[in-house]
Amino acid sequence: MKPSFAIVGCGKVGTALGIFLAKAGYKAVGLAGRSLASTQRTAEIIDCDHYSDVPWEITRNADVVFITTPDGAIVETCDAIAGHKGFADKAVVLHCSGALPSTVLSTAKTCGAQTGSMHPLQTFASSKFNANPFQGITVSIEGESDAVNMAKQITADLGGSSVTILTEAKTLYHASAVVASNYLVALLDLAFRLMGASGIADRDAFKVLKPLIEGTLSNIEEVGIPAALTGPIVRGDAETVEKHIEKIGLTTPRLLDLYKTLGWYTIDIATAKTTISETTVKQLRSLLKPSG
Ligand SMILES: NC(=O)c1ccc[n+]([C@@H]2O[C@H](COP(=O)([O-])OP(=O)(O)OC[C@H]3O[C@@H](n4cnc5c(N)ncnc54)[C@H](OP(=O)(O)O)[C@@H]3O)[C@@H](O)[C@H]2O)c1
Repeated sequence: MKPSFAIVGCGKVGTALGIFLAKAGYKAVGLAGRSLASTQRTAEIIDCDHYSDVPWEITRNADVVFITTPDGAIVETCDAIAGHKGFADKAVVLHCSGALPSTVLSTAKTCGAQTGSMHPLQTFASSKFNANPFQGITVSIEGESDAVNMAKQITADLGGSSVTILTEAKTLYHASAVVASNYLVALLDLAFRLMGASGIADRDAFKVLKPLIEGTLSNIEEVGIPAALTGPIVRGDAETVEKHIEKIGLTTPRLLDLYKTLGWYTIDIATAKTTISETTVKQLRSLLKPSG
């Protein structure tokens, strides 16, 4: 028989877990949240009779408790439940934050529970789902051994695949996800602004660059980094880089530092891929040296 579960925090992720765990044969024994309205909505969707705005009233009988409140409320929620002896002995308590380690759930151990985190690498933009958002995604898991094993099983049953990380590596793991997602947005904003400065309308920048972006991603998937790197730096074309710097400095000087910083970083990737002469590398480094 599949384990029973309770969810505290019936927002986007909590509701997704509730719906798709119930579909996978896990039994919902209770739902809780700050307001009864969102909790009741989720309870109706997954046909769960027990819901409350007092978390420890519905967590005591669960094999697994998910604390899916916003990150800032996870510790206080866990502490309050533990303070009311709301976790069963040997229960597994999990949160889904990418930024926080499982150790923030440490008070659950006073009840004999094991703690872990399982972070779905997915964007949950609303509490309505046309398809299973866990299908085919990666979920990163860390924590105590029973909690890790439970989270792995849950991930597999939800249709995802899991990767286990060290608890102390969680911050770096999260920094990586932020760079890959948020800084990609910043990087593309830089590209769009330069495209805009070249005279192409803002609304067309994405359309114009999309095949290049997609081609680059597919090259990275196929051959990896550094092999996927193309362009003036890896060709050792310092003259072109110099022209970019001059023109950006004249037209959009605010963007120059970022162009140089990324170029400076790119030199190391380029030299890992191919042999550029010492003189060209020096020339590139002198052109691209960030001002800070
Ligand atoms: N959204 C994503 O794309 C995403 C992706 C991966 C991981 N995560 C992680 O998943 C977790 C949940 O995020 P989310 O996006 O699902 O948040 P959310 O949609 O804002 O939902 C949070 C829920 O927690 C409830 N809540 C707030 N404070 C509470 C408290 N003190 N006690 C009990 N319940 C409380 C809210 O209740 P009310 O409805 O009454 O306000 C709401 O239902 C976070 O740790 C987040 O980092 C999110």
